Amino acid sequence: MTSKELRQKYLDFFKEHGHAIISSASLIPDNDPTVLFTTAGMHPLVPYIMGQKHPVGRKLADAQKSIRTSDIDEVGDATHHTFFEMLGNWSLGDYFKEEAIKMSWEFLTSPDWLNLDKNRLAVSIFKGDEDAPFDKEAYDIWLSLGIPEKKIARLPKKNNWWGPAGLTGPCGPDTEMFYWVGDPEKTPNSFNDDNPLWVEIWNDVFMQYNKKADGAYEPLEQKNVDTGMGLERILAVMNDFDDNYKTDLFKNLIFRIEDLSGKKYGVDAETTKAMRVIVDHLKAAVFIMADDKGVTPSNTDRGYVLRRLIRRAIRYGRQLGITEESWTKEIAKIVAHDYQEIYPELKKNINLVINLLKEEEAKFKKTLEQGLKEFEKLSNEKIITGKQAFDLYQTYGFPLEITEELALEKKQAVDKPEFENELKKHQDLSRTASAGMFKGGLADASEATVKYHTAAHLLLAALRKVLGGHVIQKGSNITAERLRFDFAHKEKMTDEEKQKVENLVNQAIKENLPVTCEEMTLDQAREKGAHGIFDAKYGEKVSVYLIGREKLYFSKEICGGPHVENTGILGKFKIKKEESSSSGVRRIKAVLE
Ligand code: SER
Repeated sequence: MTSKELRQKYLDFFKEHGHAIISSASLIPDNDPTVLFTTAGMHPLVPYIMGQKHPVGRKLADAQKSIRTSDIDEVGDATHHTFFEMLGNWSLGDYFKEEAIKMSWEFLTSPDWLNLDKNRLAVSIFKGDEDAPFDKEAYDIWLSLGIPEKKIARLPKKNNWWGPAGLTGPCGPDTEMFYWVGDPEKTPNSFNDDNPLWVEIWNDVFMQYNKKADGAYEPLEQKNVDTGMGLERILAVMNDFDDNYKTDLFKNLIFRIEDLSGKKYGVDAETTKAMRVIVDHLKAAVFIMADDKGVTPSNTDRGYVLRRLIRRAIRYGRQLGITEESWTKEIAKIVAHDYQEIYPELKKNINLVINLLKEEEAKFKKTLEQGLKEFEKLSNEKIITGKQAFDLYQTYGFPLEITEELALEKKQAVDKPEFENELKKHQDLSRTASAGMFKGGLADASEATVKYHTAAHLLLAALRKVLGGHVIQKGSNITAERLRFDFAHKEKMTDEEKQKVENLVNQAIKENLPVTCEEMTLDQAREKGAHGIFDAKYGEKVSVYLIGREKLYFSKEICGGPHVENTGILGKFKIKKEESSSSGVRRIKAVLE
């Protein structure tokens, strides 16, 4: 089965069961201070899980682009990825456990759908603790479907609980489905979650709690279902592969790496790992750069994650002996080719991606050359101390593996434990720094962030009035304390322009304008002159937020919300800083006082 067939089958199944199909949201979350990237299908839907009305209904299904960097060290094995697609179906206060589980079972086992062997399926459910009881309901439903008792594992929160995506927010018990990928003849008659031959394929989450900042779990008024099935994994299962990288989602990429390196995939462990890391990281990097809210390599936040992905891939390429100049773009072209039908932004933005990759490769090469020079200075040392190795890494971006390689050639030793100590010290520091960014969490910070969210709409409208219609939003980042807003504009803003923008925003606040929301099709939104990202694909409806009074709207934006009801409560808007963000993009930092 191809990835295309499988993705489509999933969406068709849920369409037949009354779900509206929505398109993947951007990889860059909207106004969510708690994460850098969209990590799961539920992420863009949090406002709706919290009770806001979704414009297309209460039953949704999608395939969502996702990035998880928490698993980055595990990438290199057969099943972990930084970029993956998550198939998901959603009930926003519509059906709950019974229907969700029955639909999962039907999709997996019915001869009309995936037709998996029932005997090779097992499940786990939440066993209960002081926060929430044993999920007896889920247990009984699985029993009624014919799953034997021994194949229903009762596990703790660590295994069978999902969310919140940030520190606070919607969460609840889940039930996970596993498939036996070992010899079918030897399928065990009981389930043991330690055995890696039982592979997790699907997760049905029952979002019935809201975790608050004080750690309490309060029942959600609206009960929701959030399911997630990793496309890469289920595709491997459907094709009887023990390795996701053998599926069509990776095959062409691996071929190209074999070509470039002259080495073969799957022959020795080291080569295989290097090839997996390269194709995984470059695929993720291409999707991040090609996103309509795309990011460019830099030394902060998302840009830094992106830079690390690209450089790590280049380093593994070096290990494989790839010598070609600027080779990463070759992989990018194949990613774009293989996915463009599903994700048209890849085709649209491929030239930009190619240029960014070329630049980043050249920069990294220079860094490595500088690092080499520094390394030469240590040629009389018998041992490269951990501190020296760390300086090479920290100041010159010189990866430890390269230091070790060179040291080996020169018969020098590297004090790796000391290096790791240094690294840990540094990471602890940066973790503390970034923890500030996550302070409060999603639900808790909501009141303050909602205000900033509305202020961002006012800011965009004001910028367009003062600077011109070429100004479009290129990104935003909101915390409970401030707003950061990136927009397309070439020149530095003058003091006068900044003052005008501030005045316009404050005027709109003073007038206490109403904020209303209308649901309409994309075409209608376009006709109405709404701004925003027109990336919805299935002719679906979108929400347009209007600020102002009929016919005299100050701002019209396609947006998921939420927003304040009247601008009057925003306080005083103040621009703290205006600076360059990247080429052709300016950044404003602003606060509400
Ligand atoms: N949110 C759950 C997960 O990511 C199910 O979609 O696994």
